[in-house]
Amino acid sequence: MTLVIAIDGPAGSGKSTLARALADRLGLDVLDTGAMYRALTIECLRRGVNVHSDDEVSALARSITVTTLPDVRVDGRYVGDDLRRPDVNEAVSSVAALPGARSAMVEAQRAQAFASPRGLVAEGRDLTTVVFPDATLKIFLTADLDERARRRGDESRESVERRDHLDSTRLASPLRRADDARVLDTTGRRIGDLVEEVVGWLENTT
Ligand code: DC
Repeated sequence: MTLVIAIDGPAGSGKSTLARALADRLGLDVLDTGAMYRALTIECLRRGVNVHSDDEVSALARSITVTTLPDVRVDGRYVGDDLRRPDVNEAVSSVAALPGARSAMVEAQRAQAFASPRGLVAEGRDLTTVVFPDATLKIFLTADLDERARRRGDESRESVERRDHLDSTRLASPLRRADDARVLDTTGRRIGDLVEEVVGWLENTT
């Protein structure tokens, strides 16, 4: 199987930063699945699709192509500047709670891993539990709420808390730590140290 490092954790725990740094260090691709749910949400809002209707959102998800490399696009149209819009922060947890929409996204995520010859670092909320249950290495990131809210600068602490609550209490693939995931608390840690710690785990795994 392709080498997959799967990383889950709440908003602002450092997933994207760690995923990018690990990918640079190890020559792997990156899969930012939060950006995929955000891109789908942007498209729902643009087309007036009801973000609470699984039928409508999953039909849309199956009819569009969301790509995240080298930047985030929906059917080739750049949406990178809209990913952290307040209305997207507000609606994305509703979209991500819809089971049909999630299975469309999970299929697309597995297809991207399959198409990656070098292997990849994939991050989100259900990568270790649902998308890649057989990942080479599974990591669950945590960090203090204060630090996580600080890292999300443009998003209020209340909004971050609200999203974490919705993401970890929903029925469909809630955020949770896989039994075999290693826990990494990123509070006050430097990225270089975190990368070396993970590379050490990887060397003991493969
Ligand atoms: O990581 P992020 O803040 O960009 O993620 C945006 C939202 O997408 C987040 O509130 C939860 C959802 N999400 C998800 O449900 N499953 C994933 N694999 C990734 C993100």
